[in-house]
Amino acid sequence: TTVEWSADQTAKSGYNHFMAKEIHEQPASLRQCLRGRVNELSGSVSVEELSDIDSPESVQLVACGTSYHAALYVARLFRAHGVPAQAHLASEYVTAPAPFDSDSLLIGITQSGETADTLSALREAQRRGASTLAVTNVVGSTAARECDHVVYIRAGPEIGVAATKTFSSQLATGNLLVEKLCASGTKRTSESTRELIPALRDLPNQLQSVIDNSTAKSVVEEYLDYDAYFFIGRGLHRPVALEGALKFKEITYEHAEGFAAGELKHGPLALVTQRTPIFAVVTGDGERAQKTISNIKEVQARDAPVVAVTDGQSEVRRYANHTLEIPQTHPRIAPVLANTQLQLVAYHMADRMNRSIDKPRNLAKSVTVE
Ligand code: G6P
Repeated sequence: TTVEWSADQTAKSGYNHFMAKEIHEQPASLRQCLRGRVNELSGSVSVEELSDIDSPESVQLVACGTSYHAALYVARLFRAHGVPAQAHLASEYVTAPAPFDSDSLLIGITQSGETADTLSALREAQRRGASTLAVTNVVGSTAARECDHVVYIRAGPEIGVAATKTFSSQLATGNLLVEKLCASGTKRTSESTRELIPALRDLPNQLQSVIDNSTAKSVVEEYLDYDAYFFIGRGLHRPVALEGALKFKEITYEHAEGFAAGELKHGPLALVTQRTPIFAVVTGDGERAQKTISNIKEVQARDAPVVAVTDGQSEVRRYANHTLEIPQTHPRIAPVLANTQLQLVAYHMADRMNRSIDKPRNLAKSVTVE
C-alpha cells in the first residue's frame, strides 16, 4: 500500500492545520526552550545570552497582540520579585513613553522580531538612552539586531497566523529571564526558584497530558451559535483570559472578549446573558480562586453557561457547566497549561465552523506597518 500525501500535508505532519500541529508541538518546543537553561542540581537558571547583563532596578515591556499578553504575564513575575515592571502596548507606548533611569531595562517581546509598532517603541526608548532586550523567536531579526541584548525563545518556525507555541515559549522564557535577572543581587528569589525548577522540568510532560486528555472538542459542540464568548481570569490568569479571547476571535470570527475577573461587575456584566458562555480560568484554592468563583456565581445568576479551566483544587466545578482540566503545578506555570486548553477551544470551534484557521481573514502573521 502507498500513503498519498500532498507536500502541504507533509509539512503539516498529518495534521489538518498548522495551528493544530503547532499546538501539539508545544511539549517539544518547550523542551527546546528550557534545554541547558535550567540546572536542577544547583537549583539555578542560566541563560547564556544574558551573561553580561546587570539586574535592572525597573523594567518596562513593550509588545503587540499575543506577545503583549506574554508581556503582561512577565511584568507580573518581575513585580513578584520586587522589581517595578509595567507592560505597554507598543503602539501606545510611543505616544507617551514612561520615564526611566539608567538602571531600567526596556524589554520588547516579539515573536517575529519585525513588528513595526514594537520596533518603533524599542527605537524610541533607545533614543532616550534606555538599555534594551529583545525576546524573540527569529534569529537575526530586526529586533534581535537592534537591541543591546537578545534572548531567543527557541520555539521553531510558526506558520499559523494565530500564535500558539510561541506564546507558551514566551511565558517559559519569561520565567527564565526573571529568575536570571532577579536571582543575583539582593532581590528575594531563592525559595521560589527552587520550587519553580521542578515545575518547569515537568511542564512539557504535563502539557502533553493536557493535549492528550482535553475535552475541548466535545465542549465546543455545546456552544455553537451563541451571541458572544467571554473569558475571565485573575492575576497571572488574566493574560490567559485575554489571550484565550484573542485566539477565539481571530480564528472563529465570533465576538469574544477577555476580562479581568474582578472587572466583570464594573461594566461587562451588562452583556452577560444565557447566550454568552463564560470561560473562567481558576486554579489553586487560595483567596484569588475564591474571588474568581464569586465572579462566576455572578454570571451564573444571569444564566450564563460556565466552562471552567481548572486544576481541580478549587470548588469551581460545583458552579461550572463544563470543566477543562489541567494538572496541578506551580502557580506561575498553571497559566501555560490553562492557555493550552483555550487554544484547543478556539481551534476546535473554528474547525467546526470551517474557518480558514491558518490564514484568518484580514490578519497577517507579522505586521510591518504602524
Ligand atoms: C500580528 C499577529 C499576532 C502577533 C502580533 C505581534 O498581529 O497576527 O499573532 O501576536 O502580530 O507579533 P510579534 O511577531 O511582534 O510577536
